[in-house]
Amino acid sequence: MTILLTHAEQLLTLRDALGSRDARRGAQMRDLGIIQDGAVLISDGKIAAVGATDEVAGQLPDGRADVEEIDCHGKVVLPGFVDSHTHPVFTAPRLVDFEKRIAGASYEEIADAGGGIRASLSGVREASATDLAAHVAGALQQMAAQGTTTVEAKSGYGLSLESEIKSLEAIQRASKQWNGTVVPTLLGAHVVPPEYHDNPDEYVRLICEDIIPKVAARKLAEYVDVFCERGAFNPERTELVFRAAAQHKLGVRAHVCQLTTADLGPLMVFHPASLDHMDFVRDDDLPLLASSDTVATLLPAANYFLGLSAFPPARKLIDAGVAVALATDYNPGTAPTPSMPFVLSLACTQMKMLPAEAITAATYNGACALRLQHRKGSLEPGKDADIAIFEASDYRELAYWFGVNRCSGRVLKGAGPQRQVSHPPDSGD
Ligand code: NIG
Ligand code: FE
Repeated sequence: MTILLTHAEQLLTLRDALGSRDARRGAQMRDLGIIQDGAVLISDGKIAAVGATDEVAGQLPDGRADVEEIDCHGKVVLPGFVDSHTHPVFTAPRLVDFEKRIAGASYEEIADAGGGIRASLSGVREASATDLAAHVAGALQQMAAQGTTTVEAKSGYGLSLESEIKSLEAIQRASKQWNGTVVPTLLGAHVVPPEYHDNPDEYVRLICEDIIPKVAARKLAEYVDVFCERGAFNPERTELVFRAAAQHKLGVRAHVCQLTTADLGPLMVFHPASLDHMDFVRDDDLPLLASSDTVATLLPAANYFLGLSAFPPARKLIDAGVAVALATDYNPGTAPTPSMPFVLSLACTQMKMLPAEAITAATYNGACALRLQHRKGSLEPGKDADIAIFEASDYRELAYWFGVNRCSGRVLKGAGPQRQVSHPPDSGD
């Protein structure tokens, strides 16, 4: 199957002029590699050619009968978003927590009173793998509808050997029903479940000696994540989990500095693919981060939904040369949104990222946060054909409009175009 996208108003290639595969930092984040009147040729799920429409159309073999041509006049075409941090394995929204927060309780107060992450446990423990997979599949569809083509998906609401494995199996099943790409992560170390309340070390031992080895043996996860935070896992326990992950050849990543500051040095020894949230990152840790390929993944939808006035310090991180990504953090407690465009809007309005920086953070740098930048995150020959098409004539519109879905088409590993009804054209300035 060959698809030819033509006449994109702006084609955002995100390619690096020198062909570097490093994460984009500082001023590099503002270069989207834009081609006006752009075209992409897709063959067998891969990108075959990228360039101006007249150049690419000229490369087509004779006889265009088997080529599906999509006219992208009035559209911005870009790499599908890489949502590198999501928690899709849950069964129900947490509406009681939501109302308690409106009444003034904080996230930690709600968690201490038995709400929070622990409130999602029973639903997941009682659900069948089939039902969980259906929930995950539904979330993946919603994400794709908003332009996401790669999703990192964590377990973390089972918190027992059986339920964590069931959660990862649900991710695996759902990913087989979806044309996009899913990167599964074990988040057994999300919080200490109630039955280990008095003996958290025993729970850490279960994760390290039982859950991680079994998950690794069955290849159910590529990464191990830890919620390294007050009220969850301290740095020493985080290191134990990271060590077990490394022994079983799984990559590591962490939720860190969401509510309190932490010393990142001991975690950086394990070469994490990303450190996520980072609201309270210490200035002292910036040089270490900037000199590493660990990505700082910022999750402003969580700040928005928790009603916080402070947002992750994107400017400080970018200006220090840290590789920054953006993700939804899709989850029932702090970020019930599948929308990367909404995250772009928050990044620009609340964190003062430029639209171009936000798009780089949501595509190429998101791919780096999953160590997938050789396949994902930019439109270049040989890469997976993961593409989002937006009703817009200028890339800044992706972060400008909010509360409306302007993603009108997508290609997932060459499958597509899956189109929706177009919005009426807008004239903007
Ligand atoms: O990334 N902070 C830890 N994990 C999630 C929240 C999970 C929940 O409240 O259900 C987060 O914000
Ligand atoms: Fe999270």
